[in-house]
Amino acid sequence: MKALVLSGGTGSRLRPITHTAAKQLVPVANKPVLFYGIESLVAAGITDIGIVVGDTEAEIRAAVGDGSRFGARVSYLPQARPLGLAHAVLIARDWLGDDDFVMYLGDNFVVGGITELVEEFRATRPDARILLTKVDDPSAFGVAELDPDGAVLRLEEKPSAPRSDLALVGVYLFTSAVHEAVRSITPSARGELEITDAIQWLVEDGRSVCSTVISGYWKDTGNVTDMLEVNRTVLEAMPPAVLGTVDADSELVGRVRVEEGASVVRSRIVGPAVIGAGSVVRDSYIGPSTSVADGCLISDSEVEFSIVLDGSRIEGVGRIEGSLIGRTVRVTGAARAPRAHRLVLGDHSQVQITP
Ligand code: G1P
Repeated sequence: MKALVLSGGTGSRLRPITHTAAKQLVPVANKPVLFYGIESLVAAGITDIGIVVGDTEAEIRAAVGDGSRFGARVSYLPQARPLGLAHAVLIARDWLGDDDFVMYLGDNFVVGGITELVEEFRATRPDARILLTKVDDPSAFGVAELDPDGAVLRLEEKPSAPRSDLALVGVYLFTSAVHEAVRSITPSARGELEITDAIQWLVEDGRSVCSTVISGYWKDTGNVTDMLEVNRTVLEAMPPAVLGTVDADSELVGRVRVEEGASVVRSRIVGPAVIGAGSVVRDSYIGPSTSVADGCLISDSEVEFSIVLDGSRIEGVGRIEGSLIGRTVRVTGAARAPRAHRLVLGDHSQVQITP
């Protein structure tokens, strides 16, 4: 069995973070979301991985390499234009051959991995097995309608009037029957060949399409709170460790990970939290569910339930909560009057100021 991992697309929903980075490389607990996907494929025994890449190919290649660090063999399959998920299957036809495969969208996060699902698929081999999850905003997804026994009746991509709250998770298992389906469909209203339509084609053609409803799922719907929640979930299971230095005037409470070269000085950290390699936390408080990435400085500040990406500095600003802070951002307090808010914000930034 092979895996086709999709890592193209523009990531418009997580702007401004994705203005400068591929959406699949957005970190959850200091690790790109794509890496969790690759790791769960390898854990399920799938090591032959084709990654479909678009404009951000260089970045994805730099991060993933040849896959050996994951115990996988990675091939890159360039998609000239983002013409849809089913189009990605079309262009991967030769690489896939007639093998069964998992299609995994690189910006999707499935808590608990996919090992069981892959095992079940290997044992039963329906033409397609889809994963579904209950969501609050089904019209942002592909939506499935099931009969009372759970059989798939109908699938619709981003319906304005959803027939259920069951969204298609971006992990699909296929036999080679899908190739005829992706060749048979036509582009959707958004001009893409939708995998949802290809699976609907399989249903109409009388092929076996099974579904599994899961919980513990996240994707970049642009909702920062969701991202903070998935960060929290992953941190809660992270093994604590102190690989850097923590001085005698500091206190670590609960599940805290201090990476190599990081230093904690006169500070209190309440886990679950991670402080990335080379970061400095000085005279500060880091609260639960916080990920500070590599090379950051947190000084004279309080940060809780937040994600801070590489190379950012937060100095003398009191309390920051429920925030997503990008790379090499500077957040500083005003040293003297006038105590004004001075902002240099990129496009699509969001700021909430407490007067
Ligand atoms: C795609 C699929 C959609 C699915 C979603 C899951 O949406 O078209 O059916 O629910 O992935 O991530 P897109 O990310 O292209 O908006």
